[in-house]
Amino acid sequence: MEESAGRTASGFYKLTAAERLETVRQSANLDPEETSVLRESLDIAERTGTNWLENQVGAVVLPLAVVPGFTVNGKSYIVPLATEETGIVAACSFAAKAAARYGGFTARMESDLVSGQVIIDQCPHPEEAVRKIESAAFDVMQQVNRKHPHLAAAGGGLREIEARTVKFRDKPRFVAVTITADSRDAMGAALMTTMAEETAEILGPLLGGQVLLRVITNDMSARVCEARACFDITDTGGLDVCKRIVQAAEYARLDLSRAVTHNKGILNGMSAFAMATGNDTRAVEAAAHFFASVSGTYQPLSDWKLTDDWLEGVIWVPGAVGSVGGATQATRLNRLSYKILGTSSGTTVREICAAVGLAANLGVLRALVTTGIGKSHRNKS
Ligand code: MEV
Repeated sequence: MEESAGRTASGFYKLTAAERLETVRQSANLDPEETSVLRESLDIAERTGTNWLENQVGAVVLPLAVVPGFTVNGKSYIVPLATEETGIVAACSFAAKAAARYGGFTARMESDLVSGQVIIDQCPHPEEAVRKIESAAFDVMQQVNRKHPHLAAAGGGLREIEARTVKFRDKPRFVAVTITADSRDAMGAALMTTMAEETAEILGPLLGGQVLLRVITNDMSARVCEARACFDITDTGGLDVCKRIVQAAEYARLDLSRAVTHNKGILNGMSAFAMATGNDTRAVEAAAHFFASVSGTYQPLSDWKLTDDWLEGVIWVPGAVGSVGGATQATRLNRLSYKILGTSSGTTVREICAAVGLAANLGVLRALVTTGIGKSHRNKS
C-alpha cells in the first residue's frame, strides 16, 4: 500500500478525474460499491459546479436546511444553513420564531471595512520608514485605487494606510503596514491580498528592506456587526429558564474553557450560514476568535440579560462574509442559497450572519440549561 501510494503521488494532479479515481481505487483497494460512491459524488460535483479542487476524487455532501421566517431589520428571510451537526437548525428556528413575534432581530454594522498587512523586514531605519509611509500614504492609496476602477465606481476602495514598528528582542525591527479598504459586497480576502501586494510593490523601493508578507489579515475588527433581539420570557421557557440563560452567559465571562464553547455554539450557526452561502468558514471562525480575545482575555461574543418582561440578547461579531467573490457564486447550490435568501447585499449577508449566531446561541443555551444536549450528541455517535 505504502509503495503504491508513493508511486501514485508524483504527477497525480495531471491525471483526469476518472484516472485519479481509478488510482485511488487500486491503492485503497476499494470495492465496486465504494468506488461508485466516489464516482457518484464526482457526478454531483460536476452537476453542482463543485469540481475545481486540485487532485479532486469526489465531493463531500453536507445537508442543506433552511430556517424560514428569520426576521432581520424588519424583513423576513429564508435562511440557508449547511452543517453536519443536528440541533443547530432547530436552535435557530426556535429563536427565529420567538424573535419574529416581537419584531425579529435588529442588526447593524458598526463599520464595514476589511484590512490587509504588509510586513517589511530589514529596513535600515524602521522608525523613519514609518514616518515615510505616513507621508506617502495618500499618494499610495490613490495609486492602488486607480488599479481598481470597478470597486471605486461602486463606492469602495482603499481608505487608510497605517504603519507601526514591531519589536524583536526589544528593538524595533519589522515595519507592519495595515491597509484598510471598503470591499463593498465582497468579504474582501482576495481584494485585500491583491491590494497588499500592490502596496508592497510601491513601498518596497521607497523604504529599502525586504517585504516579508503581504496578505489579508483575519483580524476583522474593522467590520463588526451588532445584532440584538428581545424574547418573551414565557416563549423562552419561563423566568427560571431565562435566569439560567443569563447566568450561563455570565459564567462564560469568568471561565475561558466555557467562553470558547459558548462561542462555538454561536459559530455553529454562523459557519453553517457561511457554508451554505459559499463563504470561508475558517475566516469566520478565525475572525471571531481574534475578536473574542482582543481585550487580552478571551470573552464570549454575546451577552444576555433580563429587562422587564424580556430576555434580551446582543452579539458583537466580525462580519467575515460577503455575497460576491471567493466561492460565494462558484457552485449552483451556493447561487441557489442566495436566491432563497433573497438578498445580494454583502452588508445584509453580514447582518444576517450575526443574527444567526445570536439565534444559535439562544437555542443551544436554552437546551443546555434545561434538558441538556447530550442525547442529540449521543445519537450522532
Ligand atoms: C456544540 O456544538 C455547541 C455547544 O457546546 C455550545 C455551548 O455549549 O454553548 C452546545
